[in-house]
Amino acid sequence: MVNIAVFVSGGGTNLQSLIDACANNEINGSIKLVISNRKKAYGLERARLAGIKAEWIKDEDIIIKRLEEEQIDLIVLAGYLAIVSEKLISKYENKIINIHPSLIPSFCGEGYYGIHVHEACFKRGCKVSGATVHFVSAVVDGGPIILQRSIDISDCSSPEEIQEKILINIEHKILKEAVGLYCDNKLKVVNERVEII
Ligand code: GRF
Repeated sequence: MVNIAVFVSGGGTNLQSLIDACANNEINGSIKLVISNRKKAYGLERARLAGIKAEWIKDEDIIIKRLEEEQIDLIVLAGYLAIVSEKLISKYENKIINIHPSLIPSFCGEGYYGIHVHEACFKRGCKVSGATVHFVSAVVDGGPIILQRSIDISDCSSPEEIQEKILINIEHKILKEAVGLYCDNKLKVVNERVEII
């Protein structure tokens, strides 16, 4: 059983999809700890309601100490809007998974987070978008891609409609799928590419 920590900064609907998947035994993992850089992040409340340790921590040395105390094997960034240092990334190389709400390499990197991703996508007039789950590396949104899935957004008339369509129809599904593959030891990174074995 893989010990999982989830980092959140917002509403935590991606976290909720992982909590539900673990509860339904869809994932061979157990969420031991939820951390947020924002005291009032509803994701912390979701964790508490599920009986999971939920902690507001901003100091990364304390974060690392808590990860060690809980014997965490895998970190999932689910809408986490704080910087993850190279120290943490190198300590958990290819053991940190992030979900990004676009088809990387489109609309990613510095400044592309949350609604800003969908604003750029809407402004460009894209007809298709989606989400990407990837391992975290020192390059923002630049780590090895695990899963991507696209969806038609030609019927969306605002960035907010794109955001909701991707969050509900794509993100919630591919994040738990990727975490499930990791927990089943089915992900192998070869030359910065992820192979599903
Ligand atoms: C998601 O759209 C995720 O892709 C982005 O932040 C949002 C988090 O949503 N990184 P939630 O907090 O999981 O509801």
